[in-house]
Amino acid sequence: MTTILGLSGSLRSGSYNTALLRAAAGVMPAGATLEIATLHGIPLYDGDAEARDGIPPAVQELKERIVACDGLLLATPEYNNGIPGVLKNGIDWLSRPASDIARVFGNRPVAVIGASPGGFGTILAQNAWLPVLRTLGTQPWFGGRLMVSRAGQVFNDAGEMVDEKMKAQLRQFLQGFCASLRPGP
Ligand SMILES: Cc1cc2nc3c(=O)[nH]c(=O)nc-3n(C[C@H](O)[C@H](O)[C@H](O)COP(=O)(O)O)c2cc1C
Repeated sequence: MTTILGLSGSLRSGSYNTALLRAAAGVMPAGATLEIATLHGIPLYDGDAEARDGIPPAVQELKERIVACDGLLLATPEYNNGIPGVLKNGIDWLSRPASDIARVFGNRPVAVIGASPGGFGTILAQNAWLPVLRTLGTQPWFGGRLMVSRAGQVFNDAGEMVDEKMKAQLRQFLQGFCASLRPGP
């Protein structure tokens, strides 16, 4: 069984990016599952707090979920044409201590998707993740791209993906990502 961990970069209950991960969980290829993780409970990074208290439990728990997955799927919002601070803060915490980066991120397959109510579907945020993914030694997957633009029309008020064309694109993206992975035990 292949396990993908989908990490939403938004804390909003009505988040399009979390909704995108829920839609992804519903169209996973056979033999693969998607678990959804959020950044709730992760504090702002503070080196003093780290020195005093160590790694916060929510961060440690998420680290272990990443270690246990076969591939990480980041659903990133786009803020001011870049990476949203909430998700960058989460990844920054997950990169601590630096001695643990190789275990958590090293050669970890990572795919990036995103949803926006605007017309460009997080293309700039997705590009902005690339230096971070390189720095952490991940294995970014470039076999497909998924930008969900005009998200207000793609999802209904209940957060369900109602755009069948987008659902087909999402299914194809996930098939490609999962096919690129070595399945876990
Ligand atoms: C501070 C801020 C900056 C934003 N900048 C952009 C942007 O550059 N491009 C874009 O497409 N949407 C931008 N948006 C709109 C977000 O795409 C929108 O709020 C989206 O719903 C966030 O993702 P979520 O639904 O998963 O929370 C911005 C929103 C905020 C709050």
